Amino acid sequence: MKILAIETSCDETAIAIVEANGNEKSAQFRVLGNALLSQIDIHKEYGGVFPTLAKREHAKNLVPILEAALEEAELLHEDTQAMPKETHDKIADILSREPELCEPFLDFISESERPAIDAIAVTAGPGLEPALWVGINFARALALIWEKPLVAVNHLEGHILAALARGNDETLVIENVELPLLALLISGGHTELVVMKKWLEYELVGQTRDDAVGEAFDKVARMLDLPYPGGPEISRLAEESRDHALRRRLGTGSEEAEKESAEILFKLPRPMLRDATCDFSFAGLKTAVLYLLKDKKISEKDKKHLAREFEDAVADVLWKKTARALDETGARTLAIGGGVSANRHIRRIFAEHMKEEYPDVSLCISADTLTTDNAVMIALAGFYRALRGDFSAADSLVANGNRSLA
Ligand code: KG4
Ligand code: ZN
Repeated sequence: MKILAIETSCDETAIAIVEANGNEKSAQFRVLGNALLSQIDIHKEYGGVFPTLAKREHAKNLVPILEAALEEAELLHEDTQAMPKETHDKIADILSREPELCEPFLDFISESERPAIDAIAVTAGPGLEPALWVGINFARALALIWEKPLVAVNHLEGHILAALARGNDETLVIENVELPLLALLISGGHTELVVMKKWLEYELVGQTRDDAVGEAFDKVARMLDLPYPGGPEISRLAEESRDHALRRRLGTGSEEAEKESAEILFKLPRPMLRDATCDFSFAGLKTAVLYLLKDKKISEKDKKHLAREFEDAVADVLWKKTARALDETGARTLAIGGGVSANRHIRRIFAEHMKEEYPDVSLCISADTLTTDNAVMIALAGFYRALRGDFSAADSLVANGNRSLA
């Protein structure tokens, strides 16, 4: 089955074409085309993602991204047949709320042949609603004109499946997943633990009571005058601080590095560790950083140490809550997904603890290219939903910014 998948839930416009084979027990995927455009440079100016701007950018980028993905998959062919007026009017109606998209879409459609795909999958939530709507309306228009079934995908299910997929940029396999599976989802909008006792059925185990962990990274980065998105920036500084500390311990650092690596003076709280649930809270951690920085000019050296202590605190809390959830659920597999799972320190901490404390539980983390938002993960989820005949009528497909898994 060939699936064309569309992702526009936040600040990445992405379309992938994936050939999927197999069943729920063992599935194989071949990525035929994968095009992605990040809007990070545009949102950087505002220090975060601005929903209406994101929507406009998706509208501008969707047609070129679709062309790029189809071309890579060798599915882009010219067509000279005229479009019936009735079809033209229907498309114009579906895309009436997306003026930037409507005309380029009609131009593209009138010039290209219907590609040999079997279904269209699109992220229906969670995410920024204006951004989700552009992708959904685009998918509805394509489904109508190409007469293909539509699959609504939960973005978080995409992150979980990306974590379970093994392979490389071109070929992926999902098989031998032992249940129950515990998923830790850590992104800019989510921090939650869910358990899958039966394949693709979820129960919520714990979640953040305030900020998402990615949001905390981004806000703390802003306090340190670092650009958006803050996660990779904090991670870079924290790694430098760890590197200095290591050299100091080994006695191999220069005099300069020696001075840089004075022991960390900052101490941040580990919120909610004494709480007997699997819930998280990151707002207090962010406020603690704010207080530390109050009326102070922080040196570049101290920025690194503070970034490291922040990352340590986050990793500590994430690990301890996850360990509690592993005990409570008796999970056989731990999957970690979402943009924050790109974090090297968090990956390291989880790998070490799992090896020592839960050697019989498999740890699955997304490959680097699949951690942050992408359309390949939407295609994976789309495949399983299509296998179950979980299709949506074009008119009933709606964006839901708070769509949950459980
Ligand atoms: O999953 P994602 O791409 O988008 C959402 O669905 O939210 O996650 C984006 C989040 C941002 O908050 C970003 O700062 C964070 O993931 N992130 C990181 C790293 N790379 C991205 N956080 C920590 N360390 C990283 N290396
Ligand atoms: Zn995401």
